[in-house]
Amino acid sequence: MIDRLSSLYLHHLAVVRERADRALAATEHEHLVIAAGLPPRKFLDDQDYPFVASPHFRHWLPLTDAPGSWIVHTPGQRPRLVFLQPRDYWHVVPEAPRGYWVEHFDITVVRTVEEAVAQLPAPSSRPAVIAPTQPALAGVEPNNPQDVLDYLHWHRSYKTPYELAWMREASRIGARAHRAAEQAFRAGASELGIHQAYLAAAGVIDAELPYASIVALNQHGAVLHYTHFDRTAPDYHRSFLIDAGANATGYASDITRTYAGHGEDEFQSLVDSVEAAQLSFAAKVRAGQSYPELHIHAHHVLAGVLREHGFIRMDAESAVETGVTAAFFPHGLGHPIGLQVHDVAGFQRGERGGSIPRPAGHPYLRMTRNLEPGMVVTIEPGLYFIDMLLEELRGRPAGKDVDWNRVEAFKPYGGIRIEDDVVCTDAEPENLTRDAFAQL
Ligand code: GLY
Ligand code: MN
Ligand code: MN
Repeated sequence: MIDRLSSLYLHHLAVVRERADRALAATEHEHLVIAAGLPPRKFLDDQDYPFVASPHFRHWLPLTDAPGSWIVHTPGQRPRLVFLQPRDYWHVVPEAPRGYWVEHFDITVVRTVEEAVAQLPAPSSRPAVIAPTQPALAGVEPNNPQDVLDYLHWHRSYKTPYELAWMREASRIGARAHRAAEQAFRAGASELGIHQAYLAAAGVIDAELPYASIVALNQHGAVLHYTHFDRTAPDYHRSFLIDAGANATGYASDITRTYAGHGEDEFQSLVDSVEAAQLSFAAKVRAGQSYPELHIHAHHVLAGVLREHGFIRMDAESAVETGVTAAFFPHGLGHPIGLQVHDVAGFQRGERGGSIPRPAGHPYLRMTRNLEPGMVVTIEPGLYFIDMLLEELRGRPAGKDVDWNRVEAFKPYGGIRIEDDVVCTDAEPENLTRDAFAQL
């Protein structure tokens, strides 16, 4: 693995350097300066929030624990790492740099945030300084030039083989932890108990997750971002929706599964239909496919599922047109994923920026581009029984073609979402999530 990573990294770094060179040339900057950042401090406190290194920093280096460190890239020169390793007996200090990447950087170890800043190119040398503005880094003025960011974000959509290797690993960790969570559900655990089983199997703490896990039993599955954890188990485990991912060296996975409790055959049958639809959408992650068209196609297919299972009586076409499917599937089909769970450039028109609008009536879609080889997107259709949206539908003319008794019978199950991370290639899509589950 290390030998392979070493050669993949060499290629990745060459790609990242070349992109940086082009970004600087196009925007008339001489250096690219990237902060890892610092952990934010809690208000009126001496405690920090968890540290998360800037995604730009992580794009260059497999270093997730390097607060106060910097990368300096100057075209034609070896990249520099200004590595902060404080003299500190209160905390664990970041380990000395080692591994397959070290030989490709000129590394300067410094002991304080100020010493690090003193190593950076002077403002007069026209650096593009990509750094968070909060917390402030004394002595540095981040300029975060929009034209540089646009260029770099656009190209981050196209993952290198090195990045895909880490994303496969993130999926493997996630799949392993999902399996443990399912077992905890079957054993009758509480939401908190299931979450703890997930963390233990992934070998992480909460702060290391790419996003707050959603662990929802029964009707809680209807809350799209249910990030509360009931401490006590319900009397009956009717259904279970879990949306939880993992990080591998700064790359995310984002996985959702929905399970029916023992003997819940009708709900299982609905889960099976959503899963068949989800797999058919994942199979369409191919070069040239418009993502918003895939999202609208998903609405039509899910209308068919709603009809087949007796929730609606109208045809698919009118269910989509009248917003009936939007009441049951009220979020986007998915989003780009990579260094961030909701990765950059989902709407971007080109390397110089610009934005491709969402189709009318689809306000939550996070990806409006055509798919191209190297992109990784999630495919996460769902069907939910959400009181607020269903009440609104009931008051509209289209509501008369809904079987409200059938809807009522499914409310205690909450909802269904099934989510995979899928790579667009030159040929067949690579489904990182399914592959990871298959390898367990
Ligand atoms: N877990 C966040 C999402 O699926 O987008
Ligand atoms: Mn997602
Ligand atoms: Mn998710």
